[in-house]
Amino acid sequence: MAIRRIAVIPGDGIGKEVVPAGIGVLDAAAAAFDLDLEYEYFDYASADYYVEHGKMLPDGWFEELRPFDAIYFGAVGWPEVVPDHISLWGSLLQFRRHFDQYVNLRPIRLMPGVTSPLAGREVGDIDFYVVRENTEGEYTDLGGRMFAGTERETVIQETVMSRIGVDRILKYAFELAETRPKRHLTSATKSNGISISMPYWDERVAAMASHHPTVDVDSYHIDILTANFVLHPDWFDVVVASNLFGDILSDLGPAIAGTIGIAPSGNINPEGLFPSLFEPVHGSAPGIAGKNVANPIGQIWSGSMMLDHLGEPEAARTVLTAVENVLARGGAALTADMGGTSGTDELGRIIADEVTAIAGR
Ligand code: NAD
Ligand code: IPM
Ligand code: MN
Repeated sequence: MAIRRIAVIPGDGIGKEVVPAGIGVLDAAAAAFDLDLEYEYFDYASADYYVEHGKMLPDGWFEELRPFDAIYFGAVGWPEVVPDHISLWGSLLQFRRHFDQYVNLRPIRLMPGVTSPLAGREVGDIDFYVVRENTEGEYTDLGGRMFAGTERETVIQETVMSRIGVDRILKYAFELAETRPKRHLTSATKSNGISISMPYWDERVAAMASHHPTVDVDSYHIDILTANFVLHPDWFDVVVASNLFGDILSDLGPAIAGTIGIAPSGNINPEGLFPSLFEPVHGSAPGIAGKNVANPIGQIWSGSMMLDHLGEPEAARTVLTAVENVLARGGAALTADMGGTSGTDELGRIIADEVTAIAGR
């Protein structure tokens, strides 16, 4: 059995609590499926590291992390100590860009036992993917401040859309749609108000659609698209979006599917040239950090996505089934955000035990 080397970066806040819960479940899956997962822990990409070193990452981070088969990441951000634009731009966003993790894959699914805040929605009504462009778009450091400190002070921040960058995320999304029964792709645009980049996005969507004639394509401006997520979540199958629009949609999606605490994501370099990074959609949640109340399911489900990426679909499926079973049973076993009384660690153990039980059947 090949050894899989995983870099583990807990980060800040609840990242430090949900990562151990996620590792417990990965260990259970490794034992059940005879996998050799080898972890190495890194304390950087955290406020503590910043306080000690004056930066978020050591100089050699790229060479150090590059050889790993995957990165298992918690959350970063502790705005009381480091402004968010410094901590995030200085860590997670560098990983995404330098490791060319151009796909941010975020499944949105109403799980058994979970109540949607939308009236009358049941399992099966909400089941789609947000495919978010993850290396360019609105997330750049291009621009600047002019006339600083004067009444004419002006800031400019550029958006970048390269043909390679747009086409590769669209190709991934169309190919994903081709694997789904509905074969339906929705593009998030805003070409009525953003007059250069968004018409270009639309143009590339049309070009890509011509190569994928069996995919049913539609497009909505981002404003009405957010409304339709709430009003008609059953309309969506694969939703492809630029970096910023995808970010917004991928918090709204989990919210309509019950709670952001269970939402996973994969920051993927599909060519496997660099390690991909798996993390929950949520952040470091300073308000609940250190209390052992955070929901670990987003981290655990991200672990399932990582196992799938590492070529272990059966182990991945078992972890997800364990999550589904525990959610379906509901009750006190869940964390407080889902009406239960378990701590983060306890819910992690319950899911790990469920993995062991399923695999033993
Ligand atoms: P957040 O996701 O950390 O929290 C938003 C809300 O959701 C809070 O009420 C929080 O308590 C709740 N919540 C989040 N995760 C939960 C969980 N697992 N269980 C139960 N409740 C949960 O978003 P925020 O407050 O906007 O950001 C806090 C910090 O995290 C900031 O520094 C931000 O920049 C950072 N952040 C990091 C990431 C990341 O590392 N990928 C993502 C988002 C935000
Ligand atoms: C996410 C987060 C990050 C993003 C932040 C923390 C920079 O919100 O992973 O969704 O905007 O991508
Ligand atoms: Mn986000």
